[in-house]
Order: sequence, then structure tokens, then C-alpha cells
Amino acid sequence: MLRVANLVKQYINETGERKGGVSNVSFDVKEGELFTLLGPSGCGKTTTLRSIAGLEHPESGQIQLDGRDLFDSRSDIQLPMYERDIGMVFQSYAIWPHMNVFENAAYPLRTRRNGHVSREDIETRVMRSLEMVGLAEYRNRSATKLSGGQQQRLALARALVREPKLLLLDEPLSNLDALLREQMRAEIKRLQSEWGVTTIYVTHDQSEAMALSDRVAVLNNGMIAQMGTPFDIYDRPRSEFVANFIGRTNLLRGRLASRVRAGDIAPVDTSIGSIRCMFSSGMPAGNQISFVIRPENIQLHTAEGAPADAMPNCIDGLVRNKVFLGEVAEYSIDINGGLNIIARTHPSISLNRGDRVRASFPENKVIAICS
Ligand SMILES: Nc1ncnc2c1ncn2[C@@H]1O[C@H](COP(=O)(O)OP(=O)(O)O)[C@@H](O)[C@H]1O
Ligand SMILES: [Mg+2]
Repeated sequence: MLRVANLVKQYINETGERKGGVSNVSFDVKEGELFTLLGPSGCGKTTTLRSIAGLEHPESGQIQLDGRDLFDSRSDIQLPMYERDIGMVFQSYAIWPHMNVFENAAYPLRTRRNGHVSREDIETRVMRSLEMVGLAEYRNRSATKLSGGQQQRLALARALVREPKLLLLDEPLSNLDALLREQMRAEIKRLQSEWGVTTIYVTHDQSEAMALSDRVAVLNNGMIAQMGTPFDIYDRPRSEFVANFIGRTNLLRGRLASRVRAGDIAPVDTSIGSIRCMFSSGMPAGNQISFVIRPENIQLHTAEGAPADAMPNCIDGLVRNKVFLGEVAEYSIDINGGLNIIARTHPSISLNRGDRVRASFPENKVIAICS
């Protein structure tokens, strides 16, 4: 449905250097898909969305929507924003304060430049989109009398009323408090799949991205660091950046004992002994590598219940700290040799500061970073 290829948009800073923006971004979004651009502040998410919407003029690249060129630097095509058939919701949702709910949602239809919409059609389409977001009964209410969550829903209704081919959502929930954010997150997911509208969602919040998306592109410094399903990105990070950005993680380093091929499980020599890792691509012996172990994949055992010494991927340590987080308890474990690892367990497992423990982790959950 959408194709973005080799998009470059850079800004000129005070000293005349090209900086920021995006330096080479390519991705495809399938029809009906919810695709998320995830990354820290300043990585280029908004720049990408604004370029797709037609609010920025990129230096180079191509953008196609449903087979139509929106932008092509080779043939100098740059469709104006209102011809792009795109709905948008931004972080500051810009509800018109002097209009009621109905008029806010009707605004894009009344101001449409291509094709007049009849009064009856406006009524039908506005009410349909207000019903969709649960605001039909508030049609005559002043928009300023809505709660934050309701205003955000109104912004969504307004973006959907034109039945755009593509919906762009730029951190739409970041002004809401935590509970409302989770509710709205579920609601966006429901709306998006009921409406079936192809959507690009932008967020810096990895749990939001995990919960909502069919696929995620992780952006770093104006480039895509990794693209895949939420599970892939979490379970198979391909760089230290992605591993650290998505979820809590233990990042360790070591030296590869022997040559490996893709799919191998092989030992890595580390300061805390030999650890067996899973490799997604081949590498020569002697390479310095880093690998990731997620805290929930580490099991902690007390001396009595501990697996035998000969088991692979077992290391001994001391409980240094415990934090109760509700659904899990997070332990910080000092390993002989000065290293510290984080483990998450069911809160019913009770270990105390100073306890001797053995940590074990399955070898297929120790992921070598192969980039
Ligand atoms: N209008 C602008 N002028 C100069 N630099 C900009 C402008 N807009 C964005 N940038 C820079 O481009 C980078 C990417 O910005 P942006 O796309 O807004 O990031 P994000 O939405 O991921 O936080 C940042 O370093 C930002 O400072
Ligand atoms: Mg932004």
C-alpha cells in the first residue's frame, strides 16, 4: 500500500551543516497493516511522517501510496498535501476550541479541495466516525468540554472521516496519563482493525509499539536499525542499540572460541566463564562478540535446588538487590568477577539480599548479536 524508498531529508543547522532528519529510510507497509516507527527522541520519526504527509520536501527518495507517486525526486514529483489522501493525528491534537464535536469532525469534509461533499453525506460520514470512537452522543458538545481521552478520540474521528488510504499517528497518546494511555492504546488497535485502515504509528515507547504493531521499524539516528514483528525485534535484536532500546536486557561480551555457522549454538569465552550462545549468522573464531540475555529468561536457584555444576550456562552469584515490581520481582545478581546481571522471576520466589544463588539460562535464549 505504501512504499518509502531511500528517503533523505536533512536539515541545515546554525553552522550550515546538514544534520538531523533522516538519512536513508526505506520500508513498505501492507494494506491494513499497523506499522510502527519506534525510536528515541530525535531519531527522525516525525521527519519521516511529515515527508509522507507532504509537509516536508525531502532531498531525495520515492514515496508511493496505492500505486500513485506522492513524491519522486528523480522526476521531481511532489504532490501537495491535500491530494495525498492521508489522515493525520499529532501529539498536540489541535481540536478547534470554537467548534462543537460534530463540526470538528466535519471540518476535513467541509474544507475539502477536491470534490464537494453533500450535506447528507457529511451527516452520515461524521456520525459514522463519531460512533466508531464512541462520541456520537456528544455531537453538540463544545470540544473544549471533552476530557483528554475524548479529545484524542475526536482527533482520530476527524482523521478518519475522509476515509483516507493511510492514517499517520504521531505519538498520539503521549499527552495522556498512564491508565488512559493503555485504554486508548487498546482502542486504537480495535479501531484500526475494524476500520482496516493502513496505519503508521510513531512512538518512543517500546511497550506501546510491542502492544499495537503488526511490524516495527526501530529508528536510530535517521536510519532504520531493524525491522520486523514485535516478537522478532525483542527476541532477536541485531544490534546493541536495539537490544538496549527494547526491554530490559543483559548485554555481555566475549570472544568466540571456534568458527560458527548460522543457526549454531556455540561457546563464547567471557570473564564469567564459557557461555553457550545462539548464532543467527556465521563468524570466524576469535571474533569479539556481544550477546543478550533477557532478564525473564534467567532462572534463579538456591543452593539446594540448583542444577549440577556440569550443566551449561550456569553461573553462581550473590543477590545484591531485589525490587518488587508487582507482577515480577527483579533481582540484581553479582557474579564472581565483578559482573552484574538482572533476572526477573515470579514474585512468589523469595530470595534475600546476600543469598547465594545459581543462575541458569537456556542456550537458545542467549542471543549473539551478529551485525
Ligand atoms: N525544522 C527543523 N530544523 C532543524 N532540525 C530539525 C528540524 N526538525 C527536526 N530536526 C532535527 O532532525 C532530527 C529528527 O527530528 P524528528 O524527526 O522530529 O525526530 P523524532 O520525531 O524522532 O523525535 C532531530 O535531530 C531534530 O533536531
Ligand atoms: Mg517526533
